[in-house]
Amino acid sequence: MKGIILAGGSGSRLYPISKVYSKQLTLIYDKPLIYFPLSILMLGGIKDILIISNEETIPMYKKLFNDGSHLGLNIQYKLQSAPNGIAESFILGDKFIGDDSVTLILGDNIFYGTLDYMYNAIKNNVGATVFGYRVTDPERYGIVEFDDEGNAISLEEKPAHPKSNYAVPGLYIYNNEVVNISKNLKPSPRGELEITDVNIEYLKKGTLKVEKIGRGVAWLDTGTPESLLQASNFFGVIEDRQGLKVACIEEIAYNMDFITKAQFEKIISEMPKSLYRSYLEKILENE
Ligand code: G1P
Repeated sequence: MKGIILAGGSGSRLYPISKVYSKQLTLIYDKPLIYFPLSILMLGGIKDILIISNEETIPMYKKLFNDGSHLGLNIQYKLQSAPNGIAESFILGDKFIGDDSVTLILGDNIFYGTLDYMYNAIKNNVGATVFGYRVTDPERYGIVEFDDEGNAISLEEKPAHPKSNYAVPGLYIYNNEVVNISKNLKPSPRGELEITDVNIEYLKKGTLKVEKIGRGVAWLDTGTPESLLQASNFFGVIEDRQGLKVACIEEIAYNMDFITKAQFEKIISEMPKSLYRSYLEKILENE
């Protein structure tokens, strides 16, 4: 299973900081936003990861992650020259995906809670698996409608009159067919290759699984200053209360056995003195 993080977009709702700064690098309490989707792929056991972004931002991701080998990962980068839609990821990532299956996560999507069903879906996917998350503002998202037995029966991108309150969040798990499906898509009225159109193809074939995300799981929006502040407060409260960090990629790499203890120690020794470093040092002390 390969992983793709799509981390482009103009982030214009965050203007003026969007003039000089990529949204996925924004600080969520104590770490860049992109650490959250990266950690979901890592916890799903994915080590081969392609980060797709624009020309200005790719060098910054390279600075953050390099080739990922210090985390036991293989991180590659690909340019998306214009915001042509989420489904373009599979065309841009064609060579990287090869004959494999692929999980795509949007670089600004944060999931938090008990997410084992997501990690299991990454491991056991047949066809396509996406999720349904209850929201109060369905017209902003891709929306899935269910029948009385809980089967998905329709999908619509940002409908003016949504048929349900279930949004499809930015985590999509596909078999290799997704590459050809994406290559045959036509741009939508907003000029994008829509991920919802990919999911409709799988729905038509009868190979789309939509799992409802239950109560108590957070899927946070990060598109506006207000939602960024809410996300920072949310993780600040949880991390300070439990003394455990969320989306700490070095800790995850160590816990998932992607790296040895010696590699973990090396990463820590190369960090400047900081609260982040002290946290990682404590993990070793408490072993
Ligand atoms: C995109 C997708 C939409 C999905 C959402 C999740 O919306 O098109 O189907 O529900 O991501 O974050 P956009 O970011 O283009 O508004």
